[in-house]
Amino acid sequence: MAIAGKEHIPVALERCIELLTPAIEYSLSSHSSTIVIDATLGLGGHTRALLAKFPTITVIGIDRDAHAIELAKSNVRQYLDHLRIAQTTYDNIPQILAEQGVSHVAGILFDLGVSSMQLDDGQRGFAYSHSAPLDMRMDQSQELTAQHILDTYDRGALIHILRTYGEEKFAQKIADNIISARASSSLHTTTDLAELVKLSIPAPARRTGGNPAKRTFQALRIEVNQELAVLERAIPAALDALDVKGRLVVMAYQSLEDKIVKAAFTEATASRTPRGLPVDLPNSAAHYSLVIRGSESASESEIQMNPRAQSMRLRAVERLAA
Ligand SMILES: C[S@@+](CC[C@H](N)C(=O)[O-])C[C@H]1O[C@@H](n2cnc3c(N)ncnc32)[C@H](O)[C@@H]1O
Repeated sequence: MAIAGKEHIPVALERCIELLTPAIEYSLSSHSSTIVIDATLGLGGHTRALLAKFPTITVIGIDRDAHAIELAKSNVRQYLDHLRIAQTTYDNIPQILAEQGVSHVAGILFDLGVSSMQLDDGQRGFAYSHSAPLDMRMDQSQELTAQHILDTYDRGALIHILRTYGEEKFAQKIADNIISARASSSLHTTTDLAELVKLSIPAPARRTGGNPAKRTFQALRIEVNQELAVLERAIPAALDALDVKGRLVVMAYQSLEDKIVKAAFTEATASRTPRGLPVDLPNSAAHYSLVIRGSESASESEIQMNPRAQSMRLRAVERLAA
C-alpha cells in the first residue's frame, strides 16, 4: 500500500483479521447485516484486508485526521460501497452508531497512536528526526498545538505533562529550559525542541535509551491530542457497542495506553460475584471474556520487517452476554 512514495505495512494484519474472524462469521450467519468498526482507519490497511476477506460486511472507519481519511479512501477504493467514514475521535462511537441507525457491531479494531504517514509528513511535527513546525495535531482543525503548549503552559503544567505522559526523569530541567527559551523566542521547530531536550539531560543519561527527545515528544503529542482521556472514554464505549459474540481487538504502542486497555478489559471480564463463593451468583457472571490471556507482541520476523511493531501489545475480548 503506497503512501507518499513509501510502503505502509499494517501491524499484525493477519493476527487482527484472525481474531475478528469468528465474530464476523457468527454475525454473517445470524444477522441480516454485519458491521465492523475500524476505530483508527489511518491509511486503511486493516480495513482493506477485512473487506477483501469479507466483501459483504460494512466497515465504519473512524479517524480524526482528514488527510488520513483521504489516503484511506484511495487505498480502499475498490470497496468504497462498503465503507462508511466518520471524521471524529473514537470516543464518539455511540453517537456515530446512533447516526448510522446501528445498535451493535460484530467487531471493533483499535490500532492506536500515530500513523506512518503522520510521522513521515515533514509538516506535522510528530517526529524529532524531521525539522518541522511544533504542531503535533492529529486533527488539524483543532486549536491546541505543541507550540501553544510550549509558549503558554506554566512550569508546573509542563513538568506534569513531561512526567505523566513522557515518564521523563529530567522534567524540571526541560521545563526550565522551555521557559527560558521564551525570552529569546528560540523554540519554533522540532529540531529546536530536540536540541533543547538534549542540552537539558546530563551526558551520561543521554548514552542509553535512544534519542532523549522521544519522551518529551510523546508527552506533548499526548497532551495536544488528549490521547489518554479520549482512550479512557472510548474502550468502555466500544465494549458496550459489541453484539453478543462480538470482539474488540486493541493494539497499543506505549505503556500508558496499554495500561488503560488492560484495566478496562480486567474490569469487563471480572465476575461480579463476591470473592469466596464457589459459583457465580445469578446475573453476576462476567459479560466479556479474554480472547488473549494477557497480551501478545509482534513476532521477531514482523519486527524485522516493520520496526514500528516492536513496542506493540495486542489485547482482545469477546462479549458473552448482553
Ligand atoms: C496507527 S494509525 C492506524 C493505521 C491503520 N490501522 C492502517 O493500517 O492503515 C492510527 C490512526 O488513528 C488515528 N487516531 C489516533 N487517535 C485517534 C482518536 N482519538 N480518534 C480517532 N482517530 C484517532 C490517527 O489519526 C491515525 O490515522
